Amino acid sequence: MQQIHPLSPLLREATPSLPPSRYIDGNVYADELHNIWKKGWNYVGPLSDIAPGTMRRVDVAGTNILLVRAKDGDVRAYHNVCPHRGSELCTADEQPLRGGRILCPYHAWSFNADGTLARTAAASHAPDFDKADHGLRSVGLIDWNGLLFVRPVESSDDFGADNAFGLHDLDNWPMRELVTASRETHLVECNWKILWENFHECLHCPGVHPSLCDLIPIHRKGLGTYSDAPDWTPDSMEPEHGLRDGARSWTLSGAAATAEFPGLTEDQRNAGQVYCVIWPTLFIVAHVDYISIVSYRPKGPEQTEVTGEVLVAPAALADPNFDLHQIVAFNQQVQNEDEEVCELNQRGLRTSPFKAGVLMPEEHRVKTFHDWIARKMAGADAA
Ligand code: FES
Ligand SMILES: [Fe+2]
Repeated sequence: MQQIHPLSPLLREATPSLPPSRYIDGNVYADELHNIWKKGWNYVGPLSDIAPGTMRRVDVAGTNILLVRAKDGDVRAYHNVCPHRGSELCTADEQPLRGGRILCPYHAWSFNADGTLARTAAASHAPDFDKADHGLRSVGLIDWNGLLFVRPVESSDDFGADNAFGLHDLDNWPMRELVTASRETHLVECNWKILWENFHECLHCPGVHPSLCDLIPIHRKGLGTYSDAPDWTPDSMEPEHGLRDGARSWTLSGAAATAEFPGLTEDQRNAGQVYCVIWPTLFIVAHVDYISIVSYRPKGPEQTEVTGEVLVAPAALADPNFDLHQIVAFNQQVQNEDEEVCELNQRGLRTSPFKAGVLMPEEHRVKTFHDWIARKMAGADAA
């Protein structure tokens, strides 16, 4: 290896990857589901998608969660179970509140949006029955920039404390004003970690992503950013990313699909993309005209549900020249290319006598990801 700068992030030694069992074994999966997902913050969608006066049922890492948005806009999360005898409360992806309350479909107990028990249908109560003891069990909920995250199991995990990169890099994007222009969900036949490993390196870019490499010249070299280059120094003047000349955004044509956000700096406009990562649940790629959110939900040791969302300014939806297809088609192509190799990776891990791989210097972010998982699992309790 040539001499690299002391501050270069490149790995200095051949580093083992994880053994195949970490991607296949049901017990490993259950432990990770409990300690990384249930005790971590799981993305459940933009606040703007939940109309006041409605509730949502969401599966969060195998936990049935009820999201409630009161008429005044306040949003809360609860376990989706009635304290009376355990019926599910919200029985569809989306339902209206009844008179501003959550009504149990079994014996008609009703709960205020703040989780307190409002009424029981029974005519009588035992003398020691106290309504205050029978409210809904709340679940950790965070509204970050208008995006909602739920933590089904209590833990010491502070949002963004050790699992996020670039949270403040989106400060100039009008995150809270954005609305969903498109959403698509599908199942990918691989372990959730494979998707993240793939996301965190660009060695595959030249062979797998022709259109992305056409748009982002540095990816043609297999580099995610210029700091991945072996000759990088802190004084290097190369832009971190940068789109090809004349391109403004991740679209089929390279042009912005609608008006650019007004609050961005010149650097942010010229970068072409700004990344924000929140392990294990999502990454955001922010552009001059839209943001995309790719989120993951583990569905089994070898299955992950992937959702791609495009969020835009409300004005874009009213813009007759706004061409959503330009955005969605480009992103789906890149996503499909990634998912195809992720599934190849999973199948290879399952069928070969392969013991463990090796990380190359440019795969330093994969190592950082593995180290984070190791910290999460160290001292973790059994699922
Ligand atoms: S289980 Fe909900 S009211 Fe009986
Ligand atoms: Fe990729």
